[in-house]
Amino acid sequence: MELKITDLTKQFKEVAAVDGVSCTMTGGVYGLLGANGAGKTTLMRMLCTLNTPTSGQITWDGQDIFSMAEAYRRILGYLPQDFGYYPDFTVEDYMLYIASIKGLRPVVAKRRTAELIRQVGLDKASGRKMKKLSGGMKRRAGIAQAMLNDPQILILDEPTAGLDPTERIRFRNLISELSEERIVLLSTHIVSDVEYIAKEILLMKDGRFICRGTADELIASMPERVWSLTVPKKEAEGYLRRYKVSNVKAVPNGAQLRILSAEPPAGMQSAQLQEATLEDVFLYHFGERSGDGNGEV
Ligand SMILES: Nc1ncnc2c1ncn2[C@@H]1O[C@H](COP(=O)(O)OP(=O)(O)OP(=O)(O)O)[C@@H](O)[C@H]1O
Ligand SMILES: [Mg+2]
Repeated sequence: MELKITDLTKQFKEVAAVDGVSCTMTGGVYGLLGANGAGKTTLMRMLCTLNTPTSGQITWDGQDIFSMAEAYRRILGYLPQDFGYYPDFTVEDYMLYIASIKGLRPVVAKRRTAELIRQVGLDKASGRKMKKLSGGMKRRAGIAQAMLNDPQILILDEPTAGLDPTERIRFRNLISELSEERIVLLSTHIVSDVEYIAKEILLMKDGRFICRGTADELIASMPERVWSLTVPKKEAEGYLRRYKVSNVKAVPNGAQLRILSAEPPAGMQSAQLQEATLEDVFLYHFGERSGDGNGEV
């Protein structure tokens, strides 16, 4: 079980959406973490043979995935970023419909549908119309359809977008559970989605993997250190301008700042060194806090 990307590039006119990336995936969860426009979807679409690379290669156990064609698609499950569904289909109808497109025999389709609906926690909603599901329930149905053919490679493009904190935790657990004996590649711009479940995190920016490794390796690779200091409220603004600040908290005697800096922040010998987190690493590379501020865990 080896999915290997070698020097992969996708050029759209003047934009290199994916720019010479290489990586080898074996079993487990791989987290593709990047800001908007980093190239995550373009990379995933190539991995699903929906886009052809401008150059480079993707192989599955040594065979080119584009020449494997149908044989490759049989072992692939994909949840697109904007996945389509028929709004008036019930969850069960939707699953059976996708199963028929995937060429599952009706008996197998029925069994897998029932199993997966249970696994993603939609048993009570299986008779509900897709359009009546909450965002999180729809995404769970999306994951379930991607799992119908029991794929060895499961590609999930921003499966947690728009989910509330509770749903997000459920998702992490579900994805962890699904990653046994398969490769799961998951894209997100929320650090906590991948921090604990990914065996490897690929930090993507401008079409490239700017750093990669376990969460601990990424944290260890950050050249700047993290400091905590409390300043009078009126001085906080100046720090925000001069430093990368990953958090500001109002405290009774001013503002408590979490600052990224190689040296203690200027004139602040009282600053206390903190343990860095993956959130700090994201800030270091992207220059802003991760996530969209909605329901981050
Ligand atoms: N079909 C296309 N034609 C031209 N440019 C494209 C096309 N698809 C993507 N791009 C460009 O490629 C770059 C990467 O886009 P992509 O959708 O892969 O990023 P992303 O990381 O998935 O972003 P997001 O987090 O917003 O989903 C962007 O600059 C985008 O405008
Ligand atoms: Mg995308």
